[in-house]
Amino acid sequence: MKKRETFSNRSAAIMAMAGSAIGLGNIWRFPYMVGENGGAAYIILYLCATVFLSLPIFLAESILGRRTQLGTYGAMQTLAPGTGWRNMGFLTLSSALIILSFYSVVGGWSCDYFLQSLALGFSHDRIEDIPLMFSRLASHPWQPIVCHTVFLLLTALIVAFGVKKGIERFSTITLPLLFILILIIIAYSLSLPGSFKGVTYLIKPDFSKMGPSTVVAAMGQSFFSLSLGVGTILTYSSHIDKKEHLLGSGLGTALADILFAILAGFAIMPAVFSAGIEPGSGPGLIFETLPYIFAQIGEHTPVLSAIIAILFFLAIVVAALTSSISLLETGVSYLVEEKGIRRWTAVLILFALTWVVGCLCSLSFGPLQDVHLFGCTIFDFCDKLTANFMMTLGGFLFTFFVGWKMSKADVRDELTSGGEDRLAVRCFGVLYFLIRYIAPLVIITIFITNLVL
Ligand code: TRP
Repeated sequence: MKKRETFSNRSAAIMAMAGSAIGLGNIWRFPYMVGENGGAAYIILYLCATVFLSLPIFLAESILGRRTQLGTYGAMQTLAPGTGWRNMGFLTLSSALIILSFYSVVGGWSCDYFLQSLALGFSHDRIEDIPLMFSRLASHPWQPIVCHTVFLLLTALIVAFGVKKGIERFSTITLPLLFILILIIIAYSLSLPGSFKGVTYLIKPDFSKMGPSTVVAAMGQSFFSLSLGVGTILTYSSHIDKKEHLLGSGLGTALADILFAILAGFAIMPAVFSAGIEPGSGPGLIFETLPYIFAQIGEHTPVLSAIIAILFFLAIVVAALTSSISLLETGVSYLVEEKGIRRWTAVLILFALTWVVGCLCSLSFGPLQDVHLFGCTIFDFCDKLTANFMMTLGGFLFTFFVGWKMSKADVRDELTSGGEDRLAVRCFGVLYFLIRYIAPLVIITIFITNLVL
């Protein structure tokens, strides 16, 4: 059998997993969720959710992937041969593809904005026009579809080159760039008049907005942001060398993800308040607010602001790509492992599928806006279905399997890299407790709350 490709070293694995984690979820979704759910109160919930819920699930997926060196289907087939557990392969494949479909619509908008920034579309003399640009783009019958296609093609191309030459190389080059870019934007954002109100909003919790739905939203966001419950982390972990420490990779990824989400909040919220826009203005936040700010800055420093706008939208495209490749890779590994299909063919098949669903999601902002599924547009339906149900179900099954179906000795062996990882050895009791009891219980609670809500 061909030897499985492994990431070059632990930092390469962390870079790839952090690349998967850091994406539109951090830059686009987190800030507007913070805006809608009471600022700092939501951030506190988010931190708790990451430590008590997401980290155990992350570790459970890592254990399954690294133990078997296979994707979800193969992992389950190896650890519980001939049982229904192998259907996890199909569950995760479908969730990953649905997420990728609507994700690449937003990725497409980002590509469009990047091109607009190159064409100096956010200059000060167009400031009046900017607030309308987003709805005009999103509701256009074909323009966002072209962008969605381009974005998905880029994703497919990177994945087709494989784990090391495609995914690892792309993530290790682009991630450091992202951090630098976000720091530059923060500096700008903070220098705007009235920006301190945004800072206050991010540090002062407003507990009045907190309720069961906020708690569930924070957990869902944490799930989404760490790419959990759909076998992505499992698949990536299957390429981690046996000697590497799983806990270190998990902590590294979770920290990078939290840090980036908070940085994105500080890049965006101060500017939002400065521009006098409602913090709870929803999914259009970064596509309406940021261009506006660039135009504002552009009154005094047109060249600099144009450059910043270009770099910023490039950063969003790149962040989205490092995540979308992980979603596609999840599906590709399934087709390659279960069906024995060649990598390039698998990429092509999944490209076609997600392209179609993505088009429907895209059209749901325009020609198909009156088509509703359970009271949501197609786009919202895909988002809610995966975030609230499919990912939670996947997360539950992964932790349940590791906590209750695998032997404790095996879990310990894998999590501590055969006893070599001292930190994991020391924390094993707590981690195992979180994986076995806390995470599944919390997930069931979320699941039921979602059903009731
Ligand atoms: N985590 C990514 C983000 O925050 C999105 C993502 C990538 C994802 N892979 C995933 C979400 C798997 C859920 C499951 O943007």
